[in-house]
Amino acid sequence: MALLFIAKILLTRDIWWMLLLGIETSCDETSAAVVDEGVVLSNVVSSQIALHAVHGGVVPEIASRQHLILIDEVIIQALRESGHVAEELEAVAVTRGPGLPSALLVGVSTARGLALRLKKPLVSVHHMEAHLYSVPMDPPFVALVVSGGHTMLVHVREFGVHRLLGQTVDDAAGEAFDKAAQLLGLGYPGGPAIELQARSGNPRAWDLPRPMLDSSDWNFSFSGLKTALRRAVTLQGKLSPQAVADLSASFQSAAVEVLVEKTFRAASACGVRQVAVSGGVACNGFLRQQLQSRATASGMRVEIAEARLCTDNAAMIALLAERKFRAGTTVSTEWDIEPDWILA
Ligand code: KG4
Ligand code: ZN
Repeated sequence: MALLFIAKILLTRDIWWMLLLGIETSCDETSAAVVDEGVVLSNVVSSQIALHAVHGGVVPEIASRQHLILIDEVIIQALRESGHVAEELEAVAVTRGPGLPSALLVGVSTARGLALRLKKPLVSVHHMEAHLYSVPMDPPFVALVVSGGHTMLVHVREFGVHRLLGQTVDDAAGEAFDKAAQLLGLGYPGGPAIELQARSGNPRAWDLPRPMLDSSDWNFSFSGLKTALRRAVTLQGKLSPQAVADLSASFQSAAVEVLVEKTFRAASACGVRQVAVSGGVACNGFLRQQLQSRATASGMRVEIAEARLCTDNAAMIALLAERKFRAGTTVSTEWDIEPDWILA
């Protein structure tokens, strides 16, 4: 009887517990995290933003070199902060795509080497799927994933069973914030800079378009909004601090209105009462506030990813890998990086 009990505990540990290291190098953050049983023990993110800022955007060559310089130290620190040593890990998870090819290669090569040395499984994770599931919410729900590279609306029926409803047909939401900031002479990344300026601006100072707000599909478009902003900047002439604040607030309210409205309309159309929001742009305080009030007004539930899980990080990679293990997803070692990996 006692033996049976011990065997049962060992078996349970095997199925349900997993000490896992995640690695993320798809763009300009070098990150490693350790998770155990769905709990983030450490999540080290070394941002290269300052290096890319002078170029006004991410330079792939600089990103991959920087990943190579930082990756070992970031992993060592993630393990140290978690209180575990590499030998205790039960699997290694890494972003396989989408992302910059040369940047992905650094994370994948490192993860593969480590998994080989530890003789543990190597799990590949889809970067956008990791953003998608970085919100603690049980399906069904509609997810808005808004980052620097993507803007997607996804209907999640159950874990791992999701359908892409729509996406941007041109610029991603984060990219639009970055380009708007550039037009206004603000720094990179543009999102936080626009948000800060918008706080002292009038969102009704400029009547900017809400592209595709009433289109019959669930796609987004942000390039027309950017063009309208460029025209407003030209009309304005000299950009006083108040003009920058007003233009920022007007741009932000146009972009956020489209994101919020389409998301909740999509949720209604899919017959779900829950909305999950993630990705770098989900850090935006005005977007968070608008999502909450729209949810309250429509009697729906909204969950937004924690700020530390919004921008690129390895914890979301490790958390999704662990969940996949639990769901019994088989692990293949025969795979390569997939820079253009489409969310299935
Ligand atoms: O998810 P993320 O770190 O990287 C990608 O996978 O792309 O997202 C980065 C994007 C950048 O475009 C940045 O401007 C935007 O997220 N972002 C914001 C805010 N913080 C970051 N956009 C609007 N408001 C913010 N507070
Ligand atoms: Zn991302």
